[in-house]
Amino acid sequence: MATDFTKYIASVPDYPEKGIMFRDISPLMADGEAFHAATDEIVKYAKNKGVEMVVGPEARGFIVGCPVAYEMGIGFAPARKQGKLPRKTVKASYDLEYGQSALYMHEDAIKPGQKVLVTDDLLATGGTIGATIQLVEDLGGIVVGTAFLIELKDLHGRDKLKGYDIFSLMEY
Ligand code: PRP
Ligand code: ADE
Repeated sequence: MATDFTKYIASVPDYPEKGIMFRDISPLMADGEAFHAATDEIVKYAKNKGVEMVVGPEARGFIVGCPVAYEMGIGFAPARKQGKLPRKTVKASYDLEYGQSALYMHEDAIKPGQKVLVTDDLLATGGTIGATIQLVEDLGGIVVGTAFLIELKDLHGRDKLKGYDIFSLMEY
């Protein structure tokens, strides 16, 4: 039987602001078996897509993306917030469910033509993943898939990702 991963998600009302239902993945990460099973689902998806490199946005995208890359024996490249990368970068700005931000990647993080999985813990409005995709494509990468633990359907992130394949383990 398929694992019900939702029992490992803590739903916290009014965090970080009133009106936001925060979906906290830490209980899932804290359970070794569940974390491994969730990672394996994304690995299965990524293998089917012929992924050669994993990219994830700071910070929770690292938690999801690094074990996937490790399991597949391929590389991981971070998309980071301002002032964190020491060498020459490319930048993409985006809107959040609760704020505004920008992400950066090192100019040499992706080889042109490389098949990339872009992954994060959660798809909300799609701003973060949209910016991460833009960075990968600016560097000449090919986004062959996107993968999330959680998709918040009401925020219609999918609408921003038209033309990209999307895998999500849980929906709210
Ligand atoms: C959260 C989450 C996703 C993003 C989803 O990150 O981890 O990256 O928001 O929202 P979106 O689809 O509307 O862009 P956050 O910016 O809170 O940063 P964090 O991972 O550092 O906590
Ligand atoms: N990132 C954006 N919206 C979120 C939410 N509702 N829960 C957890 N992380 C988020």
